[in-house]
Amino acid sequence: MKYNKEYFDHYTERRGTRSIKWDGCNKKFGVDPDVEMIPMWIADMDFKCPEEVIEAVTEKAREGIYGYSTREDSFFEAIAKWVEKRYLWKVEKDWIIFTPGVIPGFTVAIQTFTQPGDGIIVQTPVYYPFMDGVKNNGRTLVENVLIEKDGVYTMDFQDLEEKAKNPFNKLLILSNPHNPVGRCWTKEELERLGNICADNGVLVVSDEIHGDLIMEGYSHCAMSGISEKIKNNTITNYAPSKTFNLAGLQTAYTIIPNDSIREKFQKGLNANRVFNMNWFGPVALETAYEKCQGYVEALCEYLKENLDYMEAYIKEYIPQIKMIRPEGTYLVWLDFRKTGMTAEEIEDFVVNKAYIGADLGSWFGKPGEGFIRLNIACPRCILEKAMERLKNSFCEN
Ligand SMILES: Cc1ncc(COP(=O)(O)O)c(C=O)c1O
Repeated sequence: MKYNKEYFDHYTERRGTRSIKWDGCNKKFGVDPDVEMIPMWIADMDFKCPEEVIEAVTEKAREGIYGYSTREDSFFEAIAKWVEKRYLWKVEKDWIIFTPGVIPGFTVAIQTFTQPGDGIIVQTPVYYPFMDGVKNNGRTLVENVLIEKDGVYTMDFQDLEEKAKNPFNKLLILSNPHNPVGRCWTKEELERLGNICADNGVLVVSDEIHGDLIMEGYSHCAMSGISEKIKNNTITNYAPSKTFNLAGLQTAYTIIPNDSIREKFQKGLNANRVFNMNWFGPVALETAYEKCQGYVEALCEYLKENLDYMEAYIKEYIPQIKMIRPEGTYLVWLDFRKTGMTAEEIEDFVVNKAYIGADLGSWFGKPGEGFIRLNIACPRCILEKAMERLKNSFCEN
C-alpha cells in the first residue's frame, strides 16, 4: 500500500479500546473521569499500523488457537535485513535474541551483569523506566547529567569519564536517540562514549527503540556499528513497536555480537523464563520489516509537519514556552522554565488547567523539572486542540 498524509490524518476513536493512553489517562493524572482530557503521554501512536500488518495479524487471529509458538528463522532474517538496511550495521542472525520488550531487555542486563549495590550510569533527564530498572533491582543510580545550553543538549564527557573510572560503576544505559530530549547522537559522540566505557570496563546497554523515527537532516547511528572495540562491549535493544505502533504485541529483540556476553544474557533471560513469543508479534514484525518501509517514510514526513505546525504555533501564541525540536522520536520536550511557575505549578497547570495528559518533566529526574514531554504522534486535529488548550489556559491564568 502507498502511505500518505491522509492515512495519518485519519482520527480513530481509541476511547473504549482498553488503551492505557486514552482509557487510563484520567485515572493516571487523578482527573475527574467526566473531564475530556487530551492524552499525549506514554509513547504509542494514535495512527493505525500499516494495512499489511493489520491483514497479517487478522489472518493469524482467524486460526483461532493462540498457543505457544516456534522460533522461525524468518523472524531473525527479517531483523538482520532491517538492521543492515536501516542502520547500516551488518549483524549475524545468531546475535539476535527475542525479548518481550525493550524494558525486559535492559532489566535482564542489569540483573545479569551487575550485583546489588553496583552503580549504573544514566544520562538524565532520561526515560524514567531506566531509573526504575536500576532502583527496583537494588542497584545504585549514577547520573551523568546532560548539558543543556539554549535548548541544545550534549553529553558531559568529563563527568562521564570520572564516573566510568570509578570501579563501583559497572554499566551504562544509553538512550539513542534520546528520550526525552530528542537528540540523535552523532557517530563522534557515541564513539567517545563507547570508548570511555570500553576502556573502563563499563558495559553499555544501548536502547535504540526510536532508531527509525529520524527527522530530515539527521540519521541514526547504531552504537555497535562504530568499531570492533565498541561492538564487543555493547548490548543493543530494538523493537518494531514505536515505528509501526505495535507495543501491545510485546515483541522486541536484543543484539549481542560478543559470544560470552550473549551467553550470559541468554541465561539471565532463561532464569526469568522471559522467552515465549507473542502469537501475533513475529508475524507483525516480519510483515512490517519486509513490506512496510513506505509507512515509515510517510510517518516521519507527517511527524515533521506536526513539528512545523507546533513550532510555528508556539512561537506565535505561546512564546513563554520553548520547544526543543527533536532530531528523532515523536516526543517533544517543552521548556516551561520562563513561565515564572515552579516545576510543581507547571505540572499542575498542564494537567489540571489545560487537561492535557503529558509526561511530566520531574518523572525524568531532577534535570527534567520545569519541562513537559508531549507525544505528537497523533492526527493534526488532536495536536491543534492541545495547542489551543495550552494557549487558552495561559490566557486565563
Ligand atoms: C527509550 C524507550 N525504551 C523502551 C521503551 C519501551 O519499550 P518496550 O515497550 O518494548 O518495553 C520506550 C517506550 O516509550 C522508550 O521510549
